[in-house]
Amino acid sequence: MILLACTSLNYATAHPSQDKLTLEHNMPPTQLPNHIAMIMDGNGRWAKKRMLPRYAGHQAGLKTVRMVVEQCSTRGIKALTLFAFSSENWSRPYQEVNQIMSLFFQALRGEQRRLQKNRVRLRIIGDKSAFSPNLVQRISETERITASNDGLLLQIAANYGGRWDIVQAARTMAQQVQAGQLDPATISEANFATNLATLDCPDPDLLIRTGGEQRISNFLLWQLAYAELYFTEVLWPDFDEMALVDALNAFASRQRRFGKTGDQVQSANNP
Ligand code: IPE
Ligand code: IPE
Ligand code: MG
Repeated sequence: MILLACTSLNYATAHPSQDKLTLEHNMPPTQLPNHIAMIMDGNGRWAKKRMLPRYAGHQAGLKTVRMVVEQCSTRGIKALTLFAFSSENWSRPYQEVNQIMSLFFQALRGEQRRLQKNRVRLRIIGDKSAFSPNLVQRISETERITASNDGLLLQIAANYGGRWDIVQAARTMAQQVQAGQLDPATISEANFATNLATLDCPDPDLLIRTGGEQRISNFLLWQLAYAELYFTEVLWPDFDEMALVDALNAFASRQRRFGKTGDQVQSANNP
């Protein structure tokens, strides 16, 4: 990762689409998303193409995770949420689930120094009750160690499902009502959202899904309400800095209207 961080300029020089990189580096911060969510898909197909076991694809995908964390940190993105394992992924072969879990376990320790160096604050979102006690302990330890970092907020969605998230928030609030701590009349979108696993993190502005599928797969159902959606055929292990820049450029070219007309948005931007 250190190497990747130091070579971004060299990379630009070596890459044929250097202009795009320059454009992106000069982009006003207002055109950058504050929060990017990513569905990291295509590891299995990447491995299959190379006649490798699916696990090799997941391992290769970890390198892309390092790259996007580094890139988002240096580009001043405030939050990055990565979909690592869905509540539906338990249906995969037992061996693959085990391999993904041990990769996750190893990465939590292996990446700790880099997270600290980049001042990244880590938060794991998802139903942790299904994890082994060792994994739960390692998650809490890594979250605790990085808690006071003031850089990028990195949320890893593991055993996460958007429907689970909405149900657990509803359950928490129902318990507060039952305990007499909450008046149902005061329940609002704003206070409901703070009970979601993403807590106080603002909603994603941009969702990137690699691997060619054009679906949400039960990711941040509530939080993605107004995200710009970006789908790319690139398989997750092949997703590189240029592919990220393509996504950022696509985002910058979109007009976000939030229900208003295009003219209203334009005149608000150029008063
Ligand atoms: C995404 O890649 C990683 C996880 C879901 C854990 P896949 O493993 O789904 O890769 P494909 O879609 O089979 O290529
Ligand atoms: C979505 O990928 C979940 C993650 C990336 C962790 P999948 O590959 O599991 O999605 P579906 O099932 O094909 O929609
Ligand atoms: Mg997949």
